[in-house]
Amino acid sequence: MIIICPKCSRKHKVSPDMVTPYIRSGKKLFATCKACKYRFPVLPHTLIDPEQNAGRPVSEPESRARKICVTLSKGGVGKTTTSVNLSCGLALTGYRVLLVDTDTQGQSAYMLGKKPAAGLTELLTGELNPDECILEARKNLWLLGGGKSLAGVKRIIDRKSFGAEWALSEALSNLDRQYDFIVMDTAPGWDQLIVNVLFYATEVLVPVALEVMPLHGLSEFLKSLGSIQKYRKEIELKYIVPTFLDTRIKGPQTLYSQLKRLYPDKLCAPVHYDENLAEAPSFGKSIFEFAPGSRASADYRELVRKVSMNDKAFL
Ligand SMILES: Nc1ncnc2c1ncn2[C@@H]1O[C@H](COP(=O)(O)OP(=O)(O)OP(=O)(O)O)[C@@H](O)[C@H]1O
Ligand SMILES: [Mg+2]
Repeated sequence: MIIICPKCSRKHKVSPDMVTPYIRSGKKLFATCKACKYRFPVLPHTLIDPEQNAGRPVSEPESRARKICVTLSKGGVGKTTTSVNLSCGLALTGYRVLLVDTDTQGQSAYMLGKKPAAGLTELLTGELNPDECILEARKNLWLLGGGKSLAGVKRIIDRKSFGAEWALSEALSNLDRQYDFIVMDTAPGWDQLIVNVLFYATEVLVPVALEVMPLHGLSEFLKSLGSIQKYRKEIELKYIVPTFLDTRIKGPQTLYSQLKRLYPDKLCAPVHYDENLAEAPSFGKSIFEFAPGSRASADYRELVRKVSMNDKAFL
């Protein structure tokens, strides 16, 4: 087995006989990194079992995570629903996923049926280290929760006179070697925390609700993204995901065709309007757990395949 130091990302070989009994019994095991001398609790996400992971789609444990932010300034378009279900689907496929909730609403944890004691706030303020802030939400899926306390952090970031846009990147800097995907849910609107997300992520996924004026909201957002891209070339709009597609009425289909014409290379298959998606959160379940045979489950499975570029993902 390999233990990854959460501070310096150095990997250390350890005997499974030494580690497994502790993990199974739930007792705390601490390790000290030989390279940086950092002492940390050995948690499942700091451990890699090369044998168990031999068949998983990303074979290189040292590969860096793809950093995808799910964002659009307009509210209620399906950002959190998409972040949570995309993350769950990737995790079910076998990828190691960290879901980061950067919204003061803290809805990602609620949708997963979790109540994290700490989260992104404590990581950003440096109060706690990553292991104490990250919660294991499902197999292969870890959560760095958001919530009300992020409002205070935003004020701290705002007051920084230098490098304010890099605060999130600094806080997450040692985490990306431990995951295949880091998916970030964002709040509606436009603020310093979203700017921070766009300085950390490399890929942008935009959910566009096929309801009212989606194209206006999208073009406004693309202008703001353009202003970030002037300073940060690595960030790219990769996916536009139409949401709330209701095939019973004509309007959304017309909007979908318009999007297809305007963004042929970025447009993904739509997520249909499905009441299961509105109900699943109150049970703390992903769509795959709540209604695996539903239309929305098939739609999000398709999105998992598209994003992972793995046609066999999550069959
Ligand atoms: N395809 C869909 N069909 C039906 N209901 C949906 C669908 N997608 C999301 N919902 C529901 O619509 C509401 C808004 O979705 P969600 O919270 O994901 O949007 P959001 O963009 O994250 O909102 P906010 O901007 O407030 O963060 C939620 O109640 C969610 O359960
Ligand atoms: Mg949301």
